[in-house]
Amino acid sequence: MTDSRTDIYAELCDRALGMRAMSYAPYSHFKVGAALLASSGKIYTGCNIENAAYTPSNCAERTAFFKAVSEGETFFTAIAIAGGPADGEVQYCAPCGVCRQVMAEFCTGNFEILLAKGKDDYRCHTLAELLPERFGPENLGHSSE
Ligand code: THU
Repeated sequence: MTDSRTDIYAELCDRALGMRAMSYAPYSHFKVGAALLASSGKIYTGCNIENAAYTPSNCAERTAFFKAVSEGETFFTAIAIAGGPADGEVQYCAPCGVCRQVMAEFCTGNFEILLAKGKDDYRCHTLAELLPERFGPENLGHSSE
C-alpha cells in the first residue's frame, strides 16, 4: 500500500541516488547526491563539488539549496541525501553541521531529511531531531514564515 507521500519520498531518494553520478569528488572519492522538495512541488537536485583548496568544497545538500533559492524558492518540505564511497556501497549519509545550519535558515523543525540507501530504503529524521536548539532567523527577529 503506497500513498502520495511514499511516492514522492521514493522519487526524492531515486533522484538523490542518480545525482551521485554528477558528483565532483576527486579528493575524497565520496560521492553524494541530494534532491530537495520545495513547497511549490518542484524538486531541485545537487551533488558535492570539491576543490583542490579543500575549503571551497560544497556539499550536495547545499548545492541543492542554493540552486533552489537562486530560482526564487524559500520554502521546503523534504530532502533526500545519498552518499557513499565511489567504489563502495551507499550509506545512510547524514548531513554535516554546516548543511544542517543552512536547512535551519529556510526550514521549520518538521522539515524531513531522508537518508537514502535505495529508492525504498531510507531513514527519515526531522530537522528538529538532527539540529535541536537551533540558532536561526528568529534569534535575529526574523520569522521563518
Ligand atoms: N558530503 C556531502 O556532500 N554531504 C554530506 O552529507 C556529507 C559529506 C561531501 C563533502 C565532501 O565532498 C565529501 O562528501 C566527503 O566529506
